[in-house]
Amino acid sequence: MKILQNALAGNINNPLPVWFMRQAGRYLPEYRALRSDVPNFLSLCYNPKLAAEVTLQPIRRFGFDGAILFSDILVIPDALGQEVRFEAGEGPKLGKLDLDSLENKGKDAILNHLNPVFETIDIVKSSLPKEVTFLGFCGAPWTVSSYMIAGKGKDDQDAARQYYYTQPIEMNRLIEILVQSSIDYLCQQIQAGVEVVQIFESWASSLSPHMLEELSLKPIRKIIEGVKSKYPDVPVIVFAKGAGQYLNQIQSITKADAQGLDWSVDIDYACQAVGQNICLQGNLDPIALLSGGIALDKEIDLIKEKSINQPWIFNLGHGIRKETPISHVEQALHRIRHC
Ligand code: CP3
Repeated sequence: MKILQNALAGNINNPLPVWFMRQAGRYLPEYRALRSDVPNFLSLCYNPKLAAEVTLQPIRRFGFDGAILFSDILVIPDALGQEVRFEAGEGPKLGKLDLDSLENKGKDAILNHLNPVFETIDIVKSSLPKEVTFLGFCGAPWTVSSYMIAGKGKDDQDAARQYYYTQPIEMNRLIEILVQSSIDYLCQQIQAGVEVVQIFESWASSLSPHMLEELSLKPIRKIIEGVKSKYPDVPVIVFAKGAGQYLNQIQSITKADAQGLDWSVDIDYACQAVGQNICLQGNLDPIALLSGGIALDKEIDLIKEKSINQPWIFNLGHGIRKETPISHVEQALHRIRHC
């Protein structure tokens, strides 16, 4: 079994399997070179040859144990028919939210729109080294809805929470649309060749406890149930950033195969909260990676030491920063694997 899937199956590995969130992207000169030739970010996501190339870039350069599909969580609103644009330096901008038209978009039309993503998977699959695990992903309904409601990519979910308080019925309709389209999307990714999927709940921290359960965890459970009813053996990782205090509840509600941790989470506590058979993933501070030096080694050693009795995938606690030097990534991989 590949090492990353061995960890997901509940086994302890030495050295640890490792991949980094956002490992494909702007910190890589080869990504910036390729990106400068395409007019906008979404056209890169929908260009199978280029998206496959970008997926493979960090594998070639560093030899990570996992390759994450190059795409974005916002291809779902785009496929549902809500306009999505990425403007340089400003993050995503979305068009008007129209629930009726989203609800009227059929499964075939959505998957058809996303077909370039499935073609990307097909290309990557045929050129990935055999020991590397291929990960697909989607955003969790709450995180995706927060962009759809705010219409922009500011790190601020006020508009989405206000929508919930003032239009709870519409909020639930939107979450349901996203649950269904995410199930279809993930199943099609698996059909095309990904071996593991991760659900990104990047904005879990903005929810009160009962809203976390209603808008995040129960919808994520439905997605996992939907995927597992078709592909029971495909592991699902849930990464709910900023929800460290709820790990036990996240586990009992979603029944994920693994949980991603951000760097605020204490590892001893996390292992206790999820139990010894559940794989954990994380949780190096991306700023430690950006900083490098002795501090980086020290942070890596701490994670290795504390995770020793738990099935574990080494990762960052959030995406890699675009200013991160290549040499720090090399240093980190060496420290994780050989020290
Ligand atoms: O390497 C990988 O991890 C795979 C590709 C990937 C991207 N986005 C590429 C990307 C993945 C898994 C994502 C997920 C994603 N996208 C999330 C969840 C994870 C997280 O970071 O919390 C979110 C919230 C998004 C939405 C998104 N996409 C935003 C807010 C932005 C703009 C922010 C910024 O950094 O500019 C993006 C754009 C984006 N997605 C880029 C990349 C490489 C940069 C775009 C560019 O090249 O111009």
